[in-house]
Amino acid sequence: MLKIAVLVSGGGSNLQAIIDNQNNFDGEVVLVVSNKENAFGLQRAKDAGIDQCVISKNDNLLLETLQRYEVDLIVLAGYLAIITPIVINSYENKIINIHPSLLPSFGGHGAYGMRVHEMAFNRGVKVSGATVHFVNAEVDGGPIILQQACDISDCGSPEEIQKKVLEIEHQLLPSAVKLFCDK
Ligand code: GRF
Repeated sequence: MLKIAVLVSGGGSNLQAIIDNQNNFDGEVVLVVSNKENAFGLQRAKDAGIDQCVISKNDNLLLETLQRYEVDLIVLAGYLAIITPIVINSYENKIINIHPSLLPSFGGHGAYGMRVHEMAFNRGVKVSGATVHFVNAEVDGGPIILQQACDISDCGSPEEIQKKVLEIEHQLLPSAVKLFCDK
């Protein structure tokens, strides 16, 4: 059974999707880390009986904590901070991220959270979606694992796009975790 750490910054609905799908893969969420004290994702972890902690800067302390839990897979699920090289180099091809667009569109520095949907809305794109990819040193630049598109031509605001894309994310991220657990 693989040991999974999930890193969050906010609501944690993607974390919840992983927790709810744990029966479908050979892995277990053993740790939730947030860089924000008030992230609701921490409460979701508590409710599920999963160890959780706040580490505001992801450096040596984060690395030590992940190593202490003997983590096999790190999932960035709405983690709105850049993972530092010290962690990336120690977990090469063992960190995955969910991004709320069809990368490489609307990715890279400054493209995170609601900003991604604002960019898509302002550009008038008709199709968006979600991407799960491996994390490397390039922001949103690692190899793509899974992608799914959705029609957003009827969306009248960035919030509507976010709602539609989140539904996809909640399917896609547990599927990617399963693929990883299946090797
Ligand atoms: C998701 O859209 C994720 O892709 C993005 O931030 C949002 C986080 O949602 N990076 P949640 O915290 O999982 O509810």
